[in-house]
Amino acid sequence: MLDLLVIGAGKMGGALAAGFADAAPDSFGLGVFSRQRASVDRLATGNPRLVACDRIEPARNYLVAVKPHQVSAVVGSLPPGGLISIAAGVTLAQLSSWAGGERQIVRAMPNTPVSVKAGVTALAAGGDSTELLAEAKTMFSWVGRAFEVEEGMLNAVSAISGSGPAYLFLVMEAMQEAGVASGIPAALALELARETVLGAGVLARETGSDPRALRLAVTSPGGMTAAALAELERSGLRFAFHQAIRAAIEAAQSLSKKA
Ligand SMILES: NC(=O)c1ccc[n+]([C@@H]2O[C@H](COP(=O)([O-])OP(=O)(O)OC[C@H]3O[C@@H](n4cnc5c(N)ncnc54)[C@H](OP(=O)(O)O)[C@@H]3O)[C@@H](O)[C@H]2O)c1
Repeated sequence: MLDLLVIGAGKMGGALAAGFADAAPDSFGLGVFSRQRASVDRLATGNPRLVACDRIEPARNYLVAVKPHQVSAVVGSLPPGGLISIAAGVTLAQLSSWAGGERQIVRAMPNTPVSVKAGVTALAAGGDSTELLAEAKTMFSWVGRAFEVEEGMLNAVSAISGSGPAYLFLVMEAMQEAGVASGIPAALALELARETVLGAGVLARETGSDPRALRLAVTSPGGMTAAALAELERSGLRFAFHQAIRAAIEAAQSLSKKA
């Protein structure tokens, strides 16, 4: 029997299946199933550790990586086994009612950097799901960092780390565009923006310092960074982030109602 069957070989299911296949111990049986056989084959070709499945094969645990509106149909057809869902906004109560019977259930909210083993995943467990939670923590740690949270916090956490890469890609785009507008060739402006975001992240993690302290350390009074930061504050950057996070949480809440 497989240890884990990933259901849905799209962006997230594919990235997780490939990342798990790369990092799991040899004894770990990992399968993937998707609606279209071609999606499974594409994934399995580059990952010989993955078992390409034509249907939902029996597994100890299932990782459901389909779109939120597709989850109820998939979960309703699962054989016994633990259930991990990565669907945004789909609650533990909904999963439990669709899955029926007794099973351990965990909600996981990974982000796209799992595809390069630099992901952040938040995990929330239902009722008596201690073993599955521990297993999920191990698996998601293969592709980055995993944090356990209360389910009530999951939408807010997702608004920070789940959607967060997109905010930083937007920052990179904006920095590149501003660089081009200031006379820097586009390719160089992109490299400068990308490597700067990466370097700032690594510096924040390696030093463990408060970002405020790191910011102050590179801001000489009256200097160019101070001038730029004052403009960002004046333009409402902090307020924009508060509004953006609130909008993301509201979107997750409305997904729960539609699922
Ligand atoms: N993208 C993100 O950043 C992100 C982050 C965290 C969580 N999520 C969650 O991850 C889930 C998947 O998102 P995604 O972006 O990976 O979507 P996606 O690329 O559209 O992938 C969904 C996959 O589900 C497959 N599928 C649909 N119905 C199925 C069924 N009945 N049985 C088996 N497979 C089925 C599709 O298969 P075929 O290709 O074979 O047709 C498709 O490959 C969503 O619930 C989303 O909320 C996404």
